[in-house]
Formats: sequence, structure tokens, C-alpha cells
Amino acid sequence: MSGQRYTYFATCAPGVEPLLHREVRDLGLARSERQVGGVRFEGTMRDAWRANLWLRTAVRVLRRESRFDAVSESALDEGVGAVDWSAFVQPGGTLWVDAQTRESALDHSRYLQQRVKDTIVDQVRAADGTRPTVDREDADVRVHLHLFRDRATLSVDTSGASLHRRGWRRSQGRAPLAETLAAACVLHSGWDRRAPLIDPFCGTGTLLVEGAMIAAGMAPGLSRERFGFETWRGHDAAGWQRARDEAKAAVKIPRKLRLVGHDIVADRLEETQAHLDGLGFGDLALLEVADARSFAPRAGWNGTVVSNLPYGERVGDRVEELHGDFGTQLKALEGYRVALLTGSSRLAGLLRISRAERHRILNGGIECQLVTADL
Ligand SMILES: C[S@@+](CC[C@H](N)C(=O)[O-])C[C@H]1O[C@@H](n2cnc3c(N)ncnc32)[C@H](O)[C@@H]1O
Repeated sequence: MSGQRYTYFATCAPGVEPLLHREVRDLGLARSERQVGGVRFEGTMRDAWRANLWLRTAVRVLRRESRFDAVSESALDEGVGAVDWSAFVQPGGTLWVDAQTRESALDHSRYLQQRVKDTIVDQVRAADGTRPTVDREDADVRVHLHLFRDRATLSVDTSGASLHRRGWRRSQGRAPLAETLAAACVLHSGWDRRAPLIDPFCGTGTLLVEGAMIAAGMAPGLSRERFGFETWRGHDAAGWQRARDEAKAAVKIPRKLRLVGHDIVADRLEETQAHLDGLGFGDLALLEVADARSFAPRAGWNGTVVSNLPYGERVGDRVEELHGDFGTQLKALEGYRVALLTGSSRLAGLLRISRAERHRILNGGIECQLVTADL
């Protein structure tokens, strides 16, 4: 594989940038810089593999192919045509283009999407005689055009489907937390990876699964079926397999760890157990149907409570009362650490946790607050 270096941009939910930046640095990725909505870094294609396999809070990893001024259609065509697309698209392969534009003369994103796609298709057809087809859901090659103040950035998506699709999920419950955000909550919680991890509203178990993966040093992308770069022309399948094998060999399940999950709905606990079983964490689980309004973990656990509380918009009503009652229960838990993702600052306030820190995170467009505290 060539040692050619590229500029990458790993995207994340707004509010998660500092955590992603720390992950990028911990992975030893070079020249990283935190930006709005993600983290830029530099590296080889092998680094892109590692980023996709290991970054827990990233949503996708884009590889920058070119940057140019695009004040007119002809300038856009020229810039797009300057990239060798046959290096990505296999004969008979599929393609998708996303386009965003802001404060630019070319201001119609659907039109830009079409135009970039046409330029790429024409170039590939001229080069190898086949015409790539368009596939929105499952394209072999996904291209992103970002136009800001007439400056175009053209990237290829190394991830493909969003990285929250880890491959371990079997069921959705009612409102599962995105895996990338669950990882962000666990990483932000300050959990030491040894104390019991407790989720009193565990739903399908996303936080417990992501926590277990962190504690076990399990790469979040290990169970995923496919990444974007795997369907690029010239993909080094043998090298990639070695990278995956190395990640597999690094997994060490901490047998003494306890993953404690409660939910008021029994089906959710079955789903949580199935998710943990699927990854080899089943024996660590202590799951119980219980109402969080009378939450009282076992004496002496001194665990870390990481949870995603029900939101008014998405799960039932009487959410305010629930936050108040749950907050009252927490007052009895001395020695615990908590990290609670709530649907709004108002709901966060209803918990009435003293000396709490609050951190804003956008969860699927909803402005949430992650409340952390040592009780
Ligand atoms: C926002 S969801 C949690 C989703 C979970 N993080 C996941 O990824 O699947 C909230 C969960 O709280 C549960 N729940 C609602 N009221 C509850 C209560 N009083 N006690 C315990 N669980 C409750 C719901 O059944 C639901 O599964």
C-alpha cells in the first residue's frame, strides 16, 4: 500500500468535538485540529482504516481530494474533472454525491449534486467505457462537495454508511441512542472502566454495550460488515484484513466488570442481553426490570451511572415528574459518579443535582444536556 498522505475530516455530532479530538490524538493521528462539527487530521490510507475502525464518536471520515475556487459552473466542472475518479469507481460500480452550499454563487445543492455526478460519470465512462450507476443507499463510492463562499472542498467518504452502524444492533427499542453518542456519554462520564457501569433506563443497552467495548479495548468497527473504502477500486483487502485481525487480537474482556441495566419494559432487557451476548459480554450483565423512580443500586457498588433519560418528544409523557423523582433517588447515592443525557436544559434542571456540570450535545437535531457530577 502506498504511503501517500491525505487530509481527513472526521465528522461528529455538535458538542462532541473535544471528545473526538482526544480520540484522534490518542490514536496517534497526525496534525489534528478541532473544528466545528469534527476533527481534521493527516495520514495515510492505513490511518483512515484505523480511524474508521477505532474512533468511537466519529460519524464518518472524509478524505479530501481537492480544493478549488468554484464561482461558476465551468470552474466547478474543471475542479471535479481534475480528480481521477477511475481510481475509486470500479467498472460497473455505483456512485452517490452529496452537496452542501453556503454563501456561494452556486447556491442550489440539488443541482450541484447532479452536476458533480454527471462530471464524474462522464470521466469514468471516457476512461473505461462503463457508466457508474447512481445508488443513494449503498453506493460503492460516496463523494461530498462542500461549497462555502465559492470555495469548493471535494471529499470521498471512507466510511460509507454512518459509523454509528457498528453491526452489533439487532433491535431498535423505542428510541435507541446513537452508538456514537452513547460512546461520547461514556467517555465524557469519567468512568474508570472498572467500577460497575449502571444504566437505570437501559432500553436496548446501547450505553452498556459501548461501555463494555471501551473497557475491553474492542474496536467499535470490528463487527461492522463494510466500510466505504472496501468497495473502492484497488482496495488492499489483505492489508485491511490484517488491520482487523490485529484489532481482534487486542480485545480483552474484563471478566470482573459488572454491567447493570434496568428498564421498566421487560422486552428491552431481553434486547440488551442479546446485544451483550452477541459481543461476548453476556456474562457481565446484571439486568432487572425496575422502575427508576425507586432506583436504589446495591450497597457498596460505588458505580458510575450513565444513562439517557426518556425525552418528552419521543417516549411517553410525565417526563418532568420522572426526572424529579429520579433526581431525588440519586441524592442517596454517595460515592457514585453520574453522566445523564437529558432532552433539554429544563429537564436537566429538574434532576436538581448539586455541583453538576452541564455539556451541550446535539442528538439527532435535539439540543440535549449531558449532566455530570460526583455524588
Ligand atoms: C430514551 S430510552 C433509552 C434508550 C437507550 N439508551 C437505548 O439506547 O436503547 C428510555 C428508556 O427508559 C425506559 N423507561 C421509561 N420510564 C422508565 C422508568 N420509570 N423506569 C425505568 N425505565 C423507564 C423506557 O422503557 C426506555 O427504554
